[in-house]
Amino acid sequence: MAAVARTARLASRLAATPLQTVARPAVFAGAQRAAFSVSAKRTKSEVIKETEVPVSVYNPDAKGVASSSSVDHFKIPVQPGAAGEPTPEEEQVQPLQDKVFRQMPRTLQKMTVKDKVIIITGGARGLGNHMARACAEAGAKAIAIFDANQDLGDEAAAELHQKTGLPVSFFKVDVRDGNAINAAVQNVVDLYGTPDVLVNSAGIADSNIPAETYDPAMFRRLIDINLNGSFLMAQAVGKAMMAAGKPGSIILVASMSGSIVNYPQEQSCYNASKAGVIQLGKSLAAEWAKYNIRVNCISPGYMDTALNKVPALDAQKKIWKSLTPQDRLGAVDDLNGLCVFLASDASGFMTGSNVIIDGGYTLY
Ligand SMILES: NC(=O)c1ccc[n+]([C@@H]2O[C@H](COP(=O)([O-])OP(=O)(O)OC[C@H]3O[C@@H](n4cnc5c(N)ncnc54)[C@H](O)[C@@H]3O)[C@@H](O)[C@H]2O)c1
Repeated sequence: MAAVARTARLASRLAATPLQTVARPAVFAGAQRAAFSVSAKRTKSEVIKETEVPVSVYNPDAKGVASSSSVDHFKIPVQPGAAGEPTPEEEQVQPLQDKVFRQMPRTLQKMTVKDKVIIITGGARGLGNHMARACAEAGAKAIAIFDANQDLGDEAAAELHQKTGLPVSFFKVDVRDGNAINAAVQNVVDLYGTPDVLVNSAGIADSNIPAETYDPAMFRRLIDINLNGSFLMAQAVGKAMMAAGKPGSIILVASMSGSIVNYPQEQSCYNASKAGVIQLGKSLAAEWAKYNIRVNCISPGYMDTALNKVPALDAQKKIWKSLTPQDRLGAVDDLNGLCVFLASDASGFMTGSNVIIDGGYTLY
């Protein structure tokens, strides 16, 4: 029995992050693998699906309730799950208005990124793009997207500016290129002021490559983008914060693969790169606390980003889901709340943390 459970668990350890894949700013300012047989945790038929939920309200102000000692009973219909394409409402990006901010309680004000200048790498698409949108909704003063993809980057920045009216820039920067990074960061300082926040989401993945046949040049390339890129970005933005004497928050997107080994597909390089990012984040946090610069990592589990949305991965996704307690992949915007929290002053006593956000996957 234990062997069956272990096989099932190992079968689930598939790629946490299957992705593949100077400074010229565009300023928009209003300025597979084998099928595995796994025993399901539970069959769908065992799951009770409510169509109505009974509600009891204890509220003297509620309609039809005379006093707190009386109770109002009614039923609410249960809507089917909202998985799938984003609704037009979800596509909206609504910037935080000054008036609304002023009316917020202090706790919620602290949870915003009001007036912060934010650099987001890998913001042309995927998780980085959605974190950029979230920062815009949470009060950012200006957003700079750094990405190697010119077309997507231009499109993403133009769209975010158009939807919010906020100043948004795109810089075509490869995170392996220290000179381009430095030039672009200086340009952000000149345009908007010293950055308050860096979100480093740029990254790639190779998977299904056994270590004994891994091309050393490919190995170096991935480490160069995922690990050296995280360092070069953090160093450039950290130096700008130090030079201005400004406190800041640096958020490195790592992966649960930095803490667990995926199975069955071999991806030693990716796992090592993300473990390196986590340890880099902790080391920088310890070194830079004296400058009031916080450094934390976000470690996602399996996320339903564009690269996972291919029919060839359907079988794998079933396995990933079946061993995730929440029985789903992460949505492309599931990192947003954590990103805003780590960027905000509400996480002021938090540094050197690695927050795993995986629907419970690493619990098993
Ligand atoms: N999708 C997942 O399941 C998952 C899980 C865990 C961790 N992650 C991590 O989250 C981050 C974002 O993943 P995603 O799913 O949004 O990926 P994605 O491929 O959709 O987006 C990555 C972005 O990074 C950019 N990029 C790639 N190489 C670059 C380079 N050298 N310089 C600058 N930009 C570069 C790409 O152009 C792209 O816009 C990555 O670091 C990834 O490892 C993803």
